[in-house]
Amino acid sequence: MIDAALFSLPPSRGYFITGTDTGVGKTHAACLLIEALKRQGLRVAAMKPVAAGVGTDGMNEDVRRLVAASNVRAPLEQVNPYCFAPAIAPHVAAQQAGVCMSLEVMEQAYEKLAAQSDAVVVEGAGGFLVPMDEARGMDAIPLRLKLPVILVVGLRLGCLNHALLTAEAIRARGLVLAGWVGNRIDPHMEMGEENLTALRSLLRLPCLGLIARNGMSLEHDDPPKPC
Ligand SMILES: Nc1ncnc2c1ncn2[C@@H]1O[C@H](COP(=O)(O)OP(=O)(O)O)[C@@H](O)[C@H]1O
Ligand SMILES: [Mg+2]
Repeated sequence: MIDAALFSLPPSRGYFITGTDTGVGKTHAACLLIEALKRQGLRVAAMKPVAAGVGTDGMNEDVRRLVAASNVRAPLEQVNPYCFAPAIAPHVAAQQAGVCMSLEVMEQAYEKLAAQSDAVVVEGAGGFLVPMDEARGMDAIPLRLKLPVILVVGLRLGCLNHALLTAEAIRARGLVLAGWVGNRIDPHMEMGEENLTALRSLLRLPCLGLIARNGMSLEHDDPPKPC
C-alpha cells in the first residue's frame, strides 16, 4: 500500500522520480504516487521537465499519463517545458532542435505548479545522469528545485549495480534520497526475492513499495522474516 508508504516520505512540496534506467517504470510509479497523494485529499500536480518522443498527435506519452493522473489542470508549457519530437537522448534532440534547456525556465514552471497544488510529482527523463547538454545532467533538476528523490528500481538482472550506482550518485550530490520503489518489470527474473533482500539491505533506504507485474497498485513491501 503506497498510502502507508507515504508516511515514510519526508514532507515536501514536491518529489523527483528517477530510475535505474529508461523504461523501468518511472511514469508508472509516478502515477501511482500521484493517485496515493490524491487519496490523502491533496491537490497534486505533475511535471515532466524534459520529454523526448511524441505520438502522431504531437503529445508525449509520459506527459499524457502524468496529466491524466494529476488533479491540477495547468498549461502544457508548465507541465512539460521541453518536449522534443524524436525519441532519442534529450541532449541530442535539444542539439538538433537548436535548444538550450534552461533550469530557470523549469524552476519558474515548477513554482507556478507548486503555487496551485499541495505537491508536485516531477519525473526525470531516462536515468539519473542522462545528459541535458555537455555540462549538465538530469541531476541538475532536483538540485535546482531542491527536491527529495525517489528511485524506481526496475527489477531485472543487473538492477543491483544500477540501483547502487544511482543511489550513490544521488547521495554524493547532497540530495535527499527519500525512498525506493521496486517494479517487477521482468516476469522471468530468477532469484527475484534474493535480489530484493540485497536491495533492502544495501540501499539503506525505506522501500516505499513494490509494483507487481501488470500491477495497478503499489503493494506494501513485506520483507521475509529472518529464520
Ligand atoms: N509493473 C509493470 N507491469 C507491466 N508493465 C509495466 C510495469 N511497469 C511499467 N510497465 C510498462 O513498461 C513500460 C515502461 O514503463 P514506464 O513507466 O513508461 O517507464 P519509464 O517512465 O521509466 O520509462 C510502459 O509501457 C509501462 O506500461
Ligand atoms: Mg517515463
